[in-house]
Amino acid sequence: MQRFLDVARSIAVDAGQRIREAASQSIRIEHKGAVDLVTETDRAIEEVACARLRSEFPGHLVVGEEGSAGSAIARPGDRQWAWYLDPVDGTTNFAHSLPHFAFSLGLARGSELILGVVHDPMRRETFEAMQGAGAFLNGDKISVSNTSDLASALVGTGFPYDRREHIDFYLRFVRDFIMATHGIRRAGSAALDLCSVACGRLDGFWEWKLNPWDTAAGTVIAREAGGHVSDFTSAAFDPYGEQTLASNGLIHQQMSTLLRERLERTP
Ligand code: IPD
Ligand code: CA
Ligand code: CA
Repeated sequence: MQRFLDVARSIAVDAGQRIREAASQSIRIEHKGAVDLVTETDRAIEEVACARLRSEFPGHLVVGEEGSAGSAIARPGDRQWAWYLDPVDGTTNFAHSLPHFAFSLGLARGSELILGVVHDPMRRETFEAMQGAGAFLNGDKISVSNTSDLASALVGTGFPYDRREHIDFYLRFVRDFIMATHGIRRAGSAALDLCSVACGRLDGFWEWKLNPWDTAAGTVIAREAGGHVSDFTSAAFDPYGEQTLASNGLIHQQMSTLLRERLERTP
């Protein structure tokens, strides 16, 4: 397992270097949808990372956001090793030169999340974790916050790419959390949001409709830092599901109750 982590870290740091270089040059934006952007950097980084994973682990599946892995996003089999790769998580920030984005690489065996590396190239921060071995930021052990009251919490969120079609629905949850907490942040990178929960910069995070490449790595990191990741009802987290709720554990039930009550009151 250590070899898996060493390879993942080396791929992430190498990708970070390329992303940093690309960030200092002019960025050409393409649209996958009205608000879903992609740049040539996303594609180039994914291609390099996929090629490396393929050569290191020929039997493993690679699921990358930009599809260069050539693999459909179908749930892998029970014992299948699968890498979930987001070359640039926070593409909208990257495309607008807002320096908050990351390379994210997680490994699962079937539905079990095994390890994750999230590398923030601009802050030069590498978050990593392996199941059962704790979570680390640039080699130092990290842990979640000890905020136990939702009213004193800072929580993160994000909006899925169908936000324009369902804006009122998503904003109801935002409204409730603004009223119930110290504040909310929409920083623009779900992988970094999960790492922020892991190191106590955020107390909690929720988002609809993330994909496994957004959450696989960050989920292992948040869990290994002592946090809890589930769906909105506190049931088992499914990276292929629609709901991600992460917290320091202490405010999990309070966040879950708020989400559940809002869902029950929403048509
Ligand atoms: C997005 C970011 C964002 C989240 C979106 C994701 P991308 O990933 O993680 O924070 O709100 O739902 O799709 O497109 O920048 O890789
Ligand atoms: Ca993403
Ligand atoms: Ca991405």
